[in-house]
Amino acid sequence: MAFKFLLLVGLFFVVDGVIAQESVKQSRQESPWAWACRTGRGCVKVAKDSPVEEGDNLDNPTLAGCKLTCNGESTLWPKPRSIISLSKTLISFHPTDIRISRISAPTPKVKSLTNEAIQVLRSVIRKSIPNTQRGRNQTTKETQRPQINIQISIVSGDDRLEMTTDESYNLHVETIFATAATPNSPRSTTSVSITATSFFGARHGIETLSQIMAWDDTLGTMIMLTDVNISDSPAFVHRGLLVDTSRNYVSVPVIKKIIDAMSYDKLNVFHWHLTDTHSFPFVSTREPRLSLYGAYSPAKVYRPEDIKELVHYATVRGVKIVPEFDAPAHVGSGWEWGERAGMGQLALCVNKEPWTTYCVEPPCGILNPVNDNIYSVLSNIYQDMRDLFVSDIFHMGGDEVNFACWNETTEIIDWLKTQGRTEKSKEDFLYLWTYFQNRSLAEVDKAYDNKQPIVLWTSGLTEDGHADKYLDKNRYIIQIWTTGTDESIAQLYRQGFKLIMSNYDAWYFDCGYGQWVGDGPNNWCAPYIGWQKVYENSPRKLIVNFNETFNSRQILGGEAAIWSEQVDSTTIEGKLWPRSSALAERLWTDPDTTWRVAEHRFNHHRERLVQRGIQADALQPEWCHHNDGYCFL
Ligand SMILES: *[C@@H]1O[C@H](CO)[C@@H](O)[C@H](O)[C@H]1NC(C)=O
Ligand SMILES: *[C@@H]1O[C@H](CO)[C@@H](O)[C@H](O)[C@H]1NC(C)=O
Ligand SMILES: *[C@@H]1O[C@H](CO)[C@@H](O)[C@H](O)[C@H]1NC(C)=O
Ligand SMILES: *[C@@H]1O[C@H](CO)[C@@H](O)[C@H](O)[C@H]1NC(C)=O
Ligand SMILES: *[C@@H]1O[C@H](CO)[C@@H](O)[C@H](O)[C@H]1NC(C)=O
Repeated sequence: MAFKFLLLVGLFFVVDGVIAQESVKQSRQESPWAWACRTGRGCVKVAKDSPVEEGDNLDNPTLAGCKLTCNGESTLWPKPRSIISLSKTLISFHPTDIRISRISAPTPKVKSLTNEAIQVLRSVIRKSIPNTQRGRNQTTKETQRPQINIQISIVSGDDRLEMTTDESYNLHVETIFATAATPNSPRSTTSVSITATSFFGARHGIETLSQIMAWDDTLGTMIMLTDVNISDSPAFVHRGLLVDTSRNYVSVPVIKKIIDAMSYDKLNVFHWHLTDTHSFPFVSTREPRLSLYGAYSPAKVYRPEDIKELVHYATVRGVKIVPEFDAPAHVGSGWEWGERAGMGQLALCVNKEPWTTYCVEPPCGILNPVNDNIYSVLSNIYQDMRDLFVSDIFHMGGDEVNFACWNETTEIIDWLKTQGRTEKSKEDFLYLWTYFQNRSLAEVDKAYDNKQPIVLWTSGLTEDGHADKYLDKNRYIIQIWTTGTDESIAQLYRQGFKLIMSNYDAWYFDCGYGQWVGDGPNNWCAPYIGWQKVYENSPRKLIVNFNETFNSRQILGGEAAIWSEQVDSTTIEGKLWPRSSALAERLWTDPDTTWRVAEHRFNHHRERLVQRGIQADALQPEWCHHNDGYCFL
């Protein structure tokens, strides 16, 4: 056995052009361990000199090499929807030997985005190489090292990611091997071809390319699969994360890291819950008093230039930033200046106590829909958002409206009387709410100068099967945050609304910590949701479980949400990752298989996220990553 192993390593190096022999010799002496690809398990750590189990394959005996070649889907996450072929052979290469031989793109803008995406690839490769190895000089002459030529071909000039954007791609990798590693032999050449309709598809192809490569600790070199043919496209168009930056501020560099990690997962929507009642960090050019009064500090804001930079940063990484301006509830901080400015009360019941009477969590606040000045302020906010964000949909929030405050406000009650409504009934306040919704929607439409789709949360307007009474299904997309078995989902679906799933029992990542209003062991939606449950929450199956026929045109996809009462810049990454990756495979691939089949790949992807600088939470002892298929109950 020992002999066979050495022979294989030897062959590997003849083929690969002898880049890393020095470090290999060294580590070969050091390590008594190898990885066998074991049938029915995966990569398993074995002693080099002991007999192997039947079915063990030691063709690529390093951990990185085994992981890339052992399983049907290699180390790809999310799993492509169609893998035509993946070789079991590897080539080693040096990052500087990656050349872009051709980018074919219809516009300069698309070409420049593609070049930026290539720079991201280069930086991702750099990140995967340990610091101590990065500056290492090559002992092999360049002309003898394998060369990688990348060719990218894009058809459409789309440089905005929209719901109709074609995100599919084909990735083809083919290697022509050098015949022998003699001093004057020709170098091996690996040709990579990525073809896509849009830049966004091509970018996904580049991401997949980065995942058929890895740094090999044992060999001290980058390695990659020699021959690949993948044809891929997402199951759902809307694959998102909601990040709340009002309850606690999340810094711009941390948002960039979230977008980085989203791009590794092919998630494509960063739903930015920018403002809420706790703080107003959005610097509105037209209404600067909102953040002046409402930000936690002059440093804890998002200035127009920050947002523009983030929008471009996200586009390069295949991510669309969808802004949410939540109203009429979830406002408070930032709106206090109305009376001083002679504009009357813009928000009512701000900080009012006892908060349990007027809102779901302290501090309370709700907009005053009968003050006309509200609509000019909203118009200015919407116009600022239009100027900064590049999104084909707009999120108007609309959740958790509590009628108690309106019910106690004379100005509101008097206005309702002018409408012939004197009962102070639920219907009266729903009328007021839809009046507000209609008027603010008109301002959104004016700001955008078109009628783009509007997203609203499930709320009092959508429950009891009443959505079609208050909302136009051709205008509104409903984002579900009830449990996944709530009957309102089936009702909305039957009424023909388009839906985005964020059912809190599977996709709320703030669940499962101690209380923050009180001292109980469980916050409102505890327990913590493990990645397995995140993975198994298929929007398709939720619909089928209601005995409805699944229609992918109506179920746009889903989002995981991290509400930020108990998270900020310092801890958000570990709460988002790797669980968001589980969400990502559900929404990209929507496999019929369970988490158990994905577990070894998921563990590996988590290691890759860490390698790329993401502070992803640990899932298991590292031993499990070294011994696929043995950490099951
Ligand atoms: C690599 O080569 C450069 C130039 O020949 C030299 O300056 C540098 O010190 C070398 N680095 C290492 C780590 O040997
Ligand atoms: C990749 O697979 C597809 C589908 O089988 C095939 O049409 C295509 O020719 C393959 N590409 C290459 C370059 O082998
Ligand atoms: C509003 O308050 C009145 C008492 O002033 C009460 O009778 C009514 O039920 C309240 N309306 C709602 C919707 O809670
Ligand atoms: C809101 O708009 C809808 C649709 O245009 C309309 O049917 C409804 O009467 C309006 N409601 C109010 C209170 O203005
Ligand atoms: C779906 O149909 C099955 C079989 O008829 C039934 O047992 C189940 O209760 C139905 N589910 C719902 C949510 O209606």
